Amino acid sequence: MAIRSYKGIQPKIGINTYVDESAVVVGELYLGKDSSIWPCVAARGDVNYIQIGERTNIQDGSVLHVTRKSESAPEGYPLIIGNDVTIGHKAMLHGCTLGNRILVGMGAIIMDNTIVEDDVIIGGGALVPPNKKLESGYLYVGSPVKQARALTEQEHAFLKISADNYVHLKDEYLEDL
Ligand SMILES: CC(C)(COP(=O)(O)OP(=O)(O)OC[C@H]1O[C@@H](n2cnc3c(N)ncnc32)[C@H](O)[C@@H]1OP(=O)(O)O)[C@@H](O)C(=O)NCCC(=O)NCCS
Repeated sequence: MAIRSYKGIQPKIGINTYVDESAVVVGELYLGKDSSIWPCVAARGDVNYIQIGERTNIQDGSVLHVTRKSESAPEGYPLIIGNDVTIGHKAMLHGCTLGNRILVGMGAIIMDNTIVEDDVIIGGGALVPPNKKLESGYLYVGSPVKQARALTEQEHAFLKISADNYVHLKDEYLEDL
């Protein structure tokens, strides 16, 4: 079963969402309206919570996890993802906070306590170390990630288009269920 409880807490799945049957979605996880979770995603809201906004897509093979509360981090690190976000295939998101209209490239890794502001593109294969702040309006690439340049107007527009494309795609998948 794709959607499982942990310690009696069941994921809260919004309306018009798609969760592929091969994905594993566990515990305290909130999935906003019109969002989608694609094949072989593992999203484990056990030692802290995962919040995913509206019209956001989590593409195939991505891993979403969190960090527990501790003396050095009293709240631990939940994973918070905003609206209209595209998480590319096989990304790894751990205990970080992402704003709205962001594209996380395929295979990128984002670590604890990092904040990604609205309207950012992170290139495929990037490594974003812990405790970083990625500034709104820029492209970041590399390992460790560096600010490459300001986003073009086209790229700004593409962030919303990418999210919308996945809203339509998941609607097509829902029709086949
Ligand atoms: C970074 C990216 C946005 C392209 O940006 P760009 O400025 O148009 O890059 P260009 O293709 O013009 O390449 C510019 C330079 O950056 C390098 N580059 C491109 N993508 C890179 C990446 N992900 N990481 C590191 N370097 C990268 C290119 O090799 C090139 O280097 P060179 O000048 O030494 O030849 C794109 O390559 C990318 O990673 N997109 C993510 C797509 C994705 O994963 N989507 C989610 C799944 S749908």
